[in-house]
Amino acid sequence: MLLVLNHGKAYGLFLDSPAAQVWDLDSERKGSASVQLLSRRGFSFYWFEYSSLPEVVAAFTTLTGRCPLPPRWSLGHQQSRWSYPTETIVRNLAGEFRKRRIPCDTIVLDIDYMDDYRVFTVSRQRFPLFEDMVSDLAKNGFHTVTIVDPGVKRSARDGVFREGQKLKAFCCNADGSLFVGQVWPGASCLPDFMRPDIRDWWGDKLEFLLSRGVAGIWNDMNEPALFGNQRPLDPKCGELPKNNRQLFLQQVDQERVGHFEVRNAYGQQMTRATYEGMSRARPDQRQFVLTRSGYAGIQRYAAVWLGDNISWFEHLRVSIPMLLNVSLSGVAFCGVDIGGFGGSTDAELLARWYQLGIFYPFCRNHCALDGRPQEPWAFGSETEAAILRLLQVRYQLLPYFERLFVEHRETGAPLMRPLAWHHPEDQTAAQVDDQFMLGPDLLIAPIVQRGRTRRAVYLPKGDWFRFDNDTMFVGGRFHDVEYDLASAPAFVRSGAILPLAGPVQHTGELERAPVVFRCFGKRAEGRYWQDDGASLGYQRGEYNNWLLKFERGRFEARCTHQGYNAPNRKYSYDANGQRVRLKNWPH
Ligand code: GLC
Repeated sequence: MLLVLNHGKAYGLFLDSPAAQVWDLDSERKGSASVQLLSRRGFSFYWFEYSSLPEVVAAFTTLTGRCPLPPRWSLGHQQSRWSYPTETIVRNLAGEFRKRRIPCDTIVLDIDYMDDYRVFTVSRQRFPLFEDMVSDLAKNGFHTVTIVDPGVKRSARDGVFREGQKLKAFCCNADGSLFVGQVWPGASCLPDFMRPDIRDWWGDKLEFLLSRGVAGIWNDMNEPALFGNQRPLDPKCGELPKNNRQLFLQQVDQERVGHFEVRNAYGQQMTRATYEGMSRARPDQRQFVLTRSGYAGIQRYAAVWLGDNISWFEHLRVSIPMLLNVSLSGVAFCGVDIGGFGGSTDAELLARWYQLGIFYPFCRNHCALDGRPQEPWAFGSETEAAILRLLQVRYQLLPYFERLFVEHRETGAPLMRPLAWHHPEDQTAAQVDDQFMLGPDLLIAPIVQRGRTRRAVYLPKGDWFRFDNDTMFVGGRFHDVEYDLASAPAFVRSGAILPLAGPVQHTGELERAPVVFRCFGKRAEGRYWQDDGASLGYQRGEYNNWLLKFERGRFEARCTHQGYNAPNRKYSYDANGQRVRLKNWPH
């Protein structure tokens, strides 16, 4: 989708086709833009009229869909690496988190948990007691997420390949022979996820992992990426190549079409198969699926991370506009690899990246095989203490994150928003792309350059409070702000009430942790949402919704919907530096 913001007004254009599109927005400055669609098939074109940015995104997400509420655990901190290759290493990793009291909810297993990289297998050599490991992790508050790539090893000894062959599940060359590409397992075949029967087959195969206690699935390489084929179609090619030059053919309805006609749907349909398979296996649960590839509407099935970045400050910096674009395209649950994937991070970059990453909707530390380790403790005690403190802030804010996901469902508003979302008339705000709003109440302005300890922060009109120390700032101008490694680069809008919970080690402890409603400013309003964080009960009304108000020194909570029996916990509010216990909070 192309979204245009012009003096506070917005419009959008959406060319709905999974074929290659080339958009040239006047790159040669000739005063004309062009759109080229390389397809022989039909397309739909949508025009979202001049209105506000929130209205355009509301309409676009009405068309393409919104994220279901994620399981609460998936909003916690996730630790990943390519790879944690043995059971002992994984157990020790989880142990370190708890020993050091660094909050974490999820351990992610990259390709080395498999046997010979074959999908739906576990290496018994490296993970002899995989099921016990997963269940011990769960007892300790950790969820296990495993990677699942689309490539199936072409080997008569592989059960998934044999089944796929019987079903004629794999994509074929134009002459009808099996298409074979190179990915992690070596010579591999690709299931044709355009076919509903193949999606069902694949979704059911997930049982292999789900029955072993795996909590979430990470779909990767699903563009699909093939080694030696970085750029399957030259964007300058000008026209759609013949079918026999489109990598392979896919089945669309009754027709066989060249892959490039539907390429952008490949990751989407694989992820859909995953989400639907998980939903069949665990019907009343919220699912967590993560994907690298997708198309408009991917938010209905998965969170999206932006692939292989590098441990550079430039990539930390650019993650902000990139995630804002993805967010405005409807994908509310998004993030990038904290610390950077390729290359090697260092103490300063890792701490600075956590300062930003704790505010990504999807918060995962992940790095590649050949880089140096980047777990929160990898760079000594000062960095570790900073990251611990930052992750505590993330967990404190989880009730706010949850409320924002609820609002995304209601209105389509993403969690990460450009400043112009809330300040459309402010010409300076429209230019700022190294800051963002997290929902209506938090403005995030991190350090994005090496060696800096301070930066210019633009605060739009109104009063703002620094999250860490309540210092007040007057908006409508830039401020020079200093951040040490442990400070949260966040400003709270005057007039907001934030529900803060914790401290906890993982989200399993969150429901009973005390909640403080922090009121900012003399008059403030807020919202607090409660549900079980795990089931689809919220769709049946099993939730509580509270409207909060602080005025003339009085705090008030009005329940507008009561449908969930929440466990007992302590509630208080905090205004002007004073904390007051709320005695008779109805649960
Ligand atoms: C791809 C993914 C990366 C993963 C690697 C190995 O590069 O983007 O996150 O670690 O494959 O599976």
